[in-house]
Amino acid sequence: MQNAIYNAYFGFVENPFNISPDPEFLYRSPQHEEALANLIYGVRSRKGFIVLTGEVGTGKTTMLECLRDYLDSQRTEFAFIFNSRLTPDQFFEMMAFDFELQCDRKSKTDVLFALNALLIQQAERGRTCVLIVDEAHNLEWEVLEEIRLLGNLENRQGKLLQIILAGQPELDRKLDAPDLRQLKQRIVLRCTLNPLTPDESAAYIETRLARAGMTKQTVFGPEVLEEIYKRSRGIPRLINLLCDNLLVTAFAMEQRTTTIEMLNEVCQDLRLEWPGSNRDRRGRSSRYGMEEPYPQTPLSLRGD
Ligand SMILES: Nc1ncnc2c1ncn2[C@@H]1O[C@H](COP(=O)(O)OP(=O)(O)O)[C@@H](O)[C@H]1O
Ligand SMILES: [Mg+2]
Repeated sequence: MQNAIYNAYFGFVENPFNISPDPEFLYRSPQHEEALANLIYGVRSRKGFIVLTGEVGTGKTTMLECLRDYLDSQRTEFAFIFNSRLTPDQFFEMMAFDFELQCDRKSKTDVLFALNALLIQQAERGRTCVLIVDEAHNLEWEVLEEIRLLGNLENRQGKLLQIILAGQPELDRKLDAPDLRQLKQRIVLRCTLNPLTPDESAAYIETRLARAGMTKQTVFGPEVLEEIYKRSRGIPRLINLLCDNLLVTAFAMEQRTTTIEMLNEVCQDLRLEWPGSNRDRRGRSSRYGMEEPYPQTPLSLRGD
């Protein structure tokens, strides 16, 4: 992991606001806790389809990474597909690759045979298998239809393959389409991630700082914390972006604490808009504005 330039200055052992979906930095808000519990429950109860939705940056991939850790700890076989702009053929190939199926991965028939064999073998051991698809709002209809068919595989104990679809709110809308009615009927669990509340946002920042080595934080005062919440609208990814930039600014100015002025400068540099900001009032378009409210940072690991 790359070190932030300010780590030594503030005494961090790791980057507090890295943008990667790292479960080590997990902040357990009640809704994140509930989402993870739901994902685990859904897999364990073997009911089939689970859908996780939320705006960009609310923590979906982070939750999936936590689920991945859980599945690893249970030695449950899973495939994690995070590139969802795929043709059906590519989808089968990627799934075969991730499940490490020994077959001609370019042949759908072969992949289905090998998958079936894996599912049955695992079921005989009392285990299930999981297919996780992130950024599922991007999936083509044809691929969604193939995924629906995979959900049919079952024995007397229940579905053999648990399928988790995670994506932006368009996913819900997509699943509402008449063509996908059959898939929609199969969804047994839905969870949604919403932005953090003001208190959660402050606790989130403190959790990340503590994890990075600063147990009693003094860098962000109450006013700054409140403004970070307002300007990020409680979206973890934006909170990270603002905090990281604030720390860079404080470091450059050789200051131990951050200020509203620094935050203004950061927001201007990022061309960030938030409800009530000048830019927003003037209705100018901006990179992180209301029309395209979430930043695409080069550090982002996955998808969007
Ligand atoms: N509950 C959480 N605890 C710690 N960090 C989080 C949490 N939720 C989101 N984040 C952070 O916010 C950023 C965006 O999260 P991510 O899971 O990539 O969102 P999404 O997949 O919904 O776009 C990441 O840097 C991630 O580390
Ligand atoms: Mg994501």
